[in-house]
Amino acid sequence: MTEIKRVGVLGSGLMGSGIAQVAAAAGYETTVRDVAQPVLDKAKGAIEKSLAKFVEKATIKPADAEGTMKRLRFTTSVADLKSADIVIEAVTEDLDLKNGMWRELDGLCAPATIFASNTSSLTIAAMAAATKRPDRFVGLHFFNPVPLMKLVEVVRTVTTSNETFDRAFAFAKSLGKEAVAAKDSSGFIVNLLLIPYLLDAIRVVEHGLASVPDVDKAMQLGCGYPMGPLTLLDFVGLDTTYKIAEIMFAEYKEQKYAAPPLLKRMVLAGMNGKKSGKGFYDYSTTPPTVSSLGVSS
Ligand code: 3HC
Repeated sequence: MTEIKRVGVLGSGLMGSGIAQVAAAAGYETTVRDVAQPVLDKAKGAIEKSLAKFVEKATIKPADAEGTMKRLRFTTSVADLKSADIVIEAVTEDLDLKNGMWRELDGLCAPATIFASNTSSLTIAAMAAATKRPDRFVGLHFFNPVPLMKLVEVVRTVTTSNETFDRAFAFAKSLGKEAVAAKDSSGFIVNLLLIPYLLDAIRVVEHGLASVPDVDKAMQLGCGYPMGPLTLLDFVGLDTTYKIAEIMFAEYKEQKYAAPPLLKRMVLAGMNGKKSGKGFYDYSTTPPTVSSLGVSS
């Protein structure tokens, strides 16, 4: 078994930058690839900010933060990931885009390199089949914010070898995470349960049954959730949730995964949540205010 020393991360958005951060913090030499330098600069800034928060809280020492940053490389070239022992993909939920990168890396990386996707809803089999290493392909599904959320779902598809699964499971634990095993079914464990809940919360607002803050307050205080569902939607990204819902609906053809029209309208309007400055809440003020959605509240 080759020891995992070098980690490659495809995509430097919310998830990719978080995954790169925890990998580098755990001692792995980590290379993050994205399409353009400004996107990488933003990711670097987000990692620095997150590490600074941990230093401020004395969760880590300043030297640990420095060490983490030293182990990180940022690149626009997919080829720079060729010496990685594991590559984790966290790009947008577009199978053709993902498979284009996997095909390129398949020809560049060593045979022992594990390919892992952080997909939220696509099947791992659909990516494994695009490569010549379907036995060395797994899902590693992290949660946002990656540096804080303890869980990683380790997903085995029909072709994943026992050795690959065991190595990926051990790798997830080496990042200081708790790992659970999940089968390659769209949404795995968490999103299978979470997505219908989030979509139902939108339906409650869409049908005028309760206001945005009251839905959030009800689930926070009534169920002890750290965030209400509409705040969580803003946090995860409405565009991301919309894509996940579309993929899960296409897979299961069940109404509970169908994206409510209000979600589609908000995504069309660019109201993608916190990252775009506006979603169910408007983040241009502190504290954020409730957005006007053209529905009764
Ligand atoms: N790095 C370091 N520190 C961070 C951070 C980060 N990335 N993000 C937040 N923090 C810090 C904050 O600065 C804050 O520090 P403070 O106590 O000194 O102020 C601390 O963490 C707590 O944050 P907040 O006060 O802002 O808020 P909370 O106490 O509510 O905690 C939370 C934040 C951990 C995000 C909590 O609200 C939570 O657990 N929310 C639910 C998140 C969740 O459900 N994630 C899963 C989404 S689903 C998913 O990712 C799957 C995908 O496929 C869709």
